[in-house]
Amino acid sequence: MLIAIDGPAASGKGTLARRLAAHYRLRHLDTGLTFRAVGAELVASGRPLDDERAAITIAETLDLEHLDRERLNAHGVGEAASKVAVMPGFRKAMVARQRAFAREGAGAVLDGRDIGTVVLPDATAKLFVTADAATRAMRRAAEIRSRGGEASDEAILADLARRDRRDAERATAPLKAAEDAHLLDTTGMDIETAFRAAVDIVERARAER
Ligand code: DC
Repeated sequence: MLIAIDGPAASGKGTLARRLAAHYRLRHLDTGLTFRAVGAELVASGRPLDDERAAITIAETLDLEHLDRERLNAHGVGEAASKVAVMPGFRKAMVARQRAFAREGAGAVLDGRDIGTVVLPDATAKLFVTADAATRAMRRAAEIRSRGGEASDEAILADLARRDRRDAERATAPLKAAEDAHLLDTTGMDIETAFRAAVDIVERARAER
């Protein structure tokens, strides 16, 4: 079983992906973290974010099983990831790694921006998770504060809007719902409600196959 979950930043897709993976006992890959790892590595080695050769080399050797969520979720890394993610040749290398992860074992849950459209077009179930901008900014702010960080609501809103625009407008594999994706708008839902809605969608998709 393969579950594809896409959506904009801070839509709740990551939490849903983790919960679904635990529920169905599947492996999980947060593909945003894979892009973040490459962005962070380029910055750490003093290379520009459009160095495609270096990005491909990092992608090919990246340890997908041990991505440091704590470090990679830091402010600024998402922005770097979004910039690296526009390069087509690099995306190709990344997609190959993500597919290999998905095909290993009994199945997997992958979340990102292009999972239903590009990485796993034949997934068992595809979810496109959204929430309105104010809700997403509020969730991101709560997440940052829970880690002891500080952030103004306006700065977060502006940051999310800029990243969404870049992710949706890029030429290669833009953020977009697959034609056969099920839309899940989590605005006004708590995690439990959203999780139950997601399980319903997966169960219906399984029954239809
Ligand atoms: O989901 P996230 O915020 O951790 O993702 C960080 C950036 O990585 C996002 O702004 C765009 C890029 N990304 C992508 O291009 N394709 C994916 N499948 C996942 C993330």
